[in-house]
Amino acid sequence: MKIIYVPDPVLKEVAQPVGSIDDSIRQQMKDMLQVMYDAPGIGLAANQVGLLNRVLVMDLSNRKEKEDPAPICMANPEIVWESEEISVLEEGCLSIPGQHGDVQRPAHVKVEYIDENGQKQLLEASGLLSHCVQHEIDHLNGVLFIDYMSKLKRNIMVRKVQKLVKQQEL
Ligand code: NI
Repeated sequence: MKIIYVPDPVLKEVAQPVGSIDDSIRQQMKDMLQVMYDAPGIGLAANQVGLLNRVLVMDLSNRKEKEDPAPICMANPEIVWESEEISVLEEGCLSIPGQHGDVQRPAHVKVEYIDENGQKQLLEASGLLSHCVQHEIDHLNGVLFIDYMSKLKRNIMVRKVQKLVKQQEL
């Protein structure tokens, strides 16, 4: 499993719903968490490792501060409520290394999903977690945070990533 970078077309694909949570999905979640921790990052969606099912993983614990890991694994996440209140935060993305930009999103969301045990769960998210879960669900719909920026800004960021990937043979 390897992280895929822009402008790979798999990042623009819409991922398909997961049928049931079996050992292969659990293994995928585990592998994705490992890739995310190694990067390091706080969220990773299936598209970013070349898989097109609706699976994402997140962990907002601060590993540098030696906090205990707090992984969240989601299959078929769906935003069932979003606030009118808006939040702006600077986002980055493991598929767009070295690039950051302010993104405007609903400040609070409620997300229904299936966890690694096949149980239906509801996540209420605010702040960084809200941005993160919306960012990852966007990935499953083929949307990147740079898609919220001007075409000019987006193209500059993609070109910078291409140069970086070439130089570092990422
Ligand atoms: Ni991302």
